[in-house]
Amino acid sequence: MKENLVVFNARIATPLGSTARKGHEMGELHIIENGTVEVTNGIITYVGPHRGIEREGFHWGYYQYNAHGKCLLPGFVDSHTHFVFGGERSEEFSWRLKGESYMSIMQRGGGIASTVKATRAQSFDQLRTKAEGFLKKMTAMGITTVEGKSGYGLDYDTELMQLEIMRSLDTNEKKQVDIVSTFLGAHALPQEYAGRADEYIDFLIKVMLPEIRKKDLAECCDVFCEEGVFSIEQSQRLMIAAKEMGFLLKFHADEIVSLGGAELAAELNALSADHLLQASDAGICAMAEKNVVATLLPLTAFALKEPYARARDMINAGCAVALATDLNPGSCFSGSIPLTIALACIYMGLTIEEVITALTLNGAAAVNRADSIGSIEVGKKGDMILLNSDKYNVLPYYIGMNCVEVTIKEGRMYLNKF
Ligand code: NIG
Ligand code: FE
Repeated sequence: MKENLVVFNARIATPLGSTARKGHEMGELHIIENGTVEVTNGIITYVGPHRGIEREGFHWGYYQYNAHGKCLLPGFVDSHTHFVFGGERSEEFSWRLKGESYMSIMQRGGGIASTVKATRAQSFDQLRTKAEGFLKKMTAMGITTVEGKSGYGLDYDTELMQLEIMRSLDTNEKKQVDIVSTFLGAHALPQEYAGRADEYIDFLIKVMLPEIRKKDLAECCDVFCEEGVFSIEQSQRLMIAAKEMGFLLKFHADEIVSLGGAELAAELNALSADHLLQASDAGICAMAEKNVVATLLPLTAFALKEPYARARDMINAGCAVALATDLNPGSCFSGSIPLTIALACIYMGLTIEEVITALTLNGAAAVNRADSIGSIEVGKKGDMILLNSDKYNVLPYYIGMNCVEVTIKEGRMYLNKF
């Protein structure tokens, strides 16, 4: 629902622009003290200093909200999640606590395959209700746009059902979060295709991609390019075909092994390469050169006890870094934006300003939306968050706790209770 809203007496902090901010530019935020933002029919129509006409309450067709000096940021964009799935994997989590690795569980038929089984067993409504529950939690943490992936069906019907669920949630009149859908049919090899990975890639290229294109069910195509999952060659074949059909490309790249996923993402001009815990220097340089957004997922590294991605090296090399949660039932059952921020600042060495850019404008670029969201500028959607403080320094200081007081989606306000 698009609204008319004026927020005044706010300390506005935002990156500027309609493309990702790269390298040291990530630390440059535009600050307006005692600022006003006007949103008309969901779109920002004024950003600047106090105009002297602001008045609390409903006046001249706008609801006018006094921010009392608190900090106003663009809404967060969670540009990498898997929020539509059935079942849970707490047992697998305990195996990992006892020392078993993520990949060894996957290789013996657990991991993603167990969520595929649980997802296939659920109805559209069951999966949709569960997914909707995650969306509500996202709003409370300040997320106004989320990317969601299929990849827990790995067959014709269930992959389409996951994408249709995301579409139905995105076209809901009362939605609080915009959804960008990604087809991740190449998330794992389904057991029906055991030992026939190339044939499965053929199926994705010949059957799934054309059908999804025809029904316009996903904007992006993703692949888990990893040793023991899909090779560089298989990923390349799939992604070239996807690109030819008009999909934008995203990669699960160099997560466990340094396979060259970052280099491949650059070669194919992908929107983003994600995870990147093991990205090589050459891969990092290639991403910077080809404007591939390096999407880092600190919650996953934390949950898997893996070393964090080399965020500082990436920023120093001129990359545009985005941060996302990777919410999924296996490697990272957390959609916590507050913890993502704390980990990025404490363990990855990002400054708070860089984190804000990574979660707003660069996240928007990672879902091909940097021209319409990700910053507080005239012409963009009125997607914003008001913190509970005049200082954005509270963001990493609130470790795993929420400091977002109000989430604003296209001018509509959602107040959080503390
Ligand atoms: O991004 N790495 C591959 N895919 C997901 C995990 C999926 C799962 O374990 O269910 C990820 O971490
Ligand atoms: Fe993922």
